[in-house]
Amino acid sequence: MDQPKTPAQAGPLKGLEEWDDFVKSRYAQGAPASPDKDPEEFRDYTDSTPERVKEFYRLNHAHQTRDFVREKKREFLPGNRAQMSLWEAMEFLNTLVDESDPDTELSQIEHLLQTAEAIRKDGKPDWFILTGLIHDLGKVLCLWGEPQWAVVGDTFPVGCAFSPAIVLHQYFALNPDSKVPAYQARLGVYSEHCGLDQVEMSWGHDEYMYHVAKDYLPEEALYMIRYHSFYPAHHEGDYEYLMNDHDQEMFRWVREFNPYDLYSKSDEPPKVDALRPYYEDLIAQYFPAQLRW
Ligand SMILES: [Fe+2]
Ligand SMILES: [Fe+2]
Repeated sequence: MDQPKTPAQAGPLKGLEEWDDFVKSRYAQGAPASPDKDPEEFRDYTDSTPERVKEFYRLNHAHQTRDFVREKKREFLPGNRAQMSLWEAMEFLNTLVDESDPDTELSQIEHLLQTAEAIRKDGKPDWFILTGLIHDLGKVLCLWGEPQWAVVGDTFPVGCAFSPAIVLHQYFALNPDSKVPAYQARLGVYSEHCGLDQVEMSWGHDEYMYHVAKDYLPEEALYMIRYHSFYPAHHEGDYEYLMNDHDQEMFRWVREFNPYDLYSKSDEPPKVDALRPYYEDLIAQYFPAQLRW
């Protein structure tokens, strides 16, 4: 693709890939934790985490406050940034270059196609395949100048206590919400089992893409997009007290999606041009020609 390359985004990571790789290494072995695991048992990643990744989490945990989330929603949810088709958004995202290992790493478009192709190979429904294709398109936030810590990272609820299940939890001491007693009770501003649609999540590519896609996909797909980085819940089994029965049911889909996001690396990069007609067709079955971003 002949497109101008955009320099690396603002932040300590060499590129967004570096966070994805860290998540992969963190969850490479072992089944998801049981929901009734003792919080003291969550692994401490302080020593095993690379410095750049630690600095990334320090910024993320220090700045993702309830006010910050609301400010970003006011800024981005009206969808006034751009009008693009989903394929155009994929090409736009592909102008983002990660410095981590440009020769061997997959481009953003290749990660998306590879995820979708792995889902397709397993014979999943077409909306599931489409979800694989678009789940990370919210990363275009980086191309609009948003810092890495406000685009990627494990997500978590704001307005209530930060779970010890969140990686590098100690950095939340730097978050101004840590000093707001109403936000630091277990339930904070929420009520027991109120349901995740009542809960505000930290801001990033998941929440943003959910809003871009929310009128066009089945609910299962929207859960997968919105909560795919909510590792403290879908992997560590925490925050059950904010979820209702319907969330629990839908999280089966979030968990079913996760391995495709983490592991769908094939030896050969997907052939973008050859796959494009199939995926353009699939997109057109669910989405209008232009979307608001
Ligand atoms: Fe993602
Ligand atoms: Fe992904």
